[in-house]
Amino acid sequence: MERHFYFQPAFGNRPEKIVGRDGELYSVLNGLKEPVGSRNRCILFLGQRGMGKTAMLLEIADRARTEGYIPARVTAHEGMPQSIIEQIQFNGSQFFKDEKRHLSGISAGALGFSFGLTFSDEAKQQYGFRTKMSLLCDRLEEKGKGVLSLIDEVHTSPAMRDVASSFQELVGDRKNIAIVMAGLPYAVSSILNDEVLTFLNRADKVELGAISCSAIKAYYENAFREMKIKCPDEILDEASEATHGLPYFMQLLGYYLTEYSGDRSVIDESVFNKARTSAEKDMDDNVFKPVISPLSNNDRAFLKAMAECSEPATTEELKNWLGNKGSSIQTYRKRLIEAGIIETPRRGELTFAIPYFREYLLKSE
Ligand SMILES: Nc1ncnc2c1ncn2[C@@H]1O[C@H](COP(=O)(O)OP(=O)(O)O)[C@@H](O)[C@H]1O
Ligand SMILES: [Mg+2]
Repeated sequence: MERHFYFQPAFGNRPEKIVGRDGELYSVLNGLKEPVGSRNRCILFLGQRGMGKTAMLLEIADRARTEGYIPARVTAHEGMPQSIIEQIQFNGSQFFKDEKRHLSGISAGALGFSFGLTFSDEAKQQYGFRTKMSLLCDRLEEKGKGVLSLIDEVHTSPAMRDVASSFQELVGDRKNIAIVMAGLPYAVSSILNDEVLTFLNRADKVELGAISCSAIKAYYENAFREMKIKCPDEILDEASEATHGLPYFMQLLGYYLTEYSGDRSVIDESVFNKARTSAEKDMDDNVFKPVISPLSNNDRAFLKAMAECSEPATTEELKNWLGNKGSSIQTYRKRLIEAGIIETPRRGELTFAIPYFREYLLKSE
């Protein structure tokens, strides 16, 4: 098999295989089979950068087709409502091929359509997103199809408000629709407060955290075997553990291991060390810096102090660090938990929610 088929470290692509997410995929796809109006038809994936949110949306868009859905995959930008309509028309048109086009002016289409899923000029101009969606749902229902909107990078915006309120109204009208969204943990932070947030909070939330190292090891083992690259079992163990379960890191490390195995097609300890260093460098630039950059100086200093505490850090240790600074530990704690950067495994303890983040903070200035 050609090299770099198994490992393609980039954001927003569909991996060769979704590793270690069988449980999440199973429960979401089952939810989509539930009757119209079920809460499980409105799903929100939450996870940090590189955890595989976009990859999951791509996978679900594809698999949902066999469940009778027409997928519409968009990112939450301002033109999103129109993009959703166009995606449904594009992906659904194959089911209307048998219907002849009538260009003669005598409409052959259903109410609101000139033919297939193409709106009549009148409908196109006069109707807004909600009515167009309603018409598309009815038309697709004739073919036994539902509509699945997949929205990446959700945040609060007027376009998202339009989509959220229309979705709720369409569900009220018993239309066969579902929605799967993905976003950073910030997206549902309680700092923001409006109707989009209420909608997101009602969704069935699925957190995408680290994937299991044993699933990663199995993937590495198979990929290297297929590429005829020799990699001893000890290094497979080391490599899978080095990923800390982060899908993006798994891709990066796999990519460099393949690359550095060279013409000899052998991965030894020195290849592994070199690959790990390269992968970590890419992680710093593409994951950690974007996580750090929106934070205030105080939040950064707090995280840095936390990294220097024991693991997990205790609130006692951090209270010492805060000393007379006046602000309470609760303020930092709440904000950084909502941002998906830290977690409380137990009362009085704090850990980092992002693999490798502690190491990154310790070595950065
Ligand atoms: N479960 C997974 N198994 C294998 N590769 C994955 C998995 N999830 C994500 N990836 C890969 O990791 C990289 C980052 O994933 P992406 O979906 O873009 O992350 P996010 O949208 O959360 O920032 C991509 O190259 C993607 O193909
Ligand atoms: Mg993404």
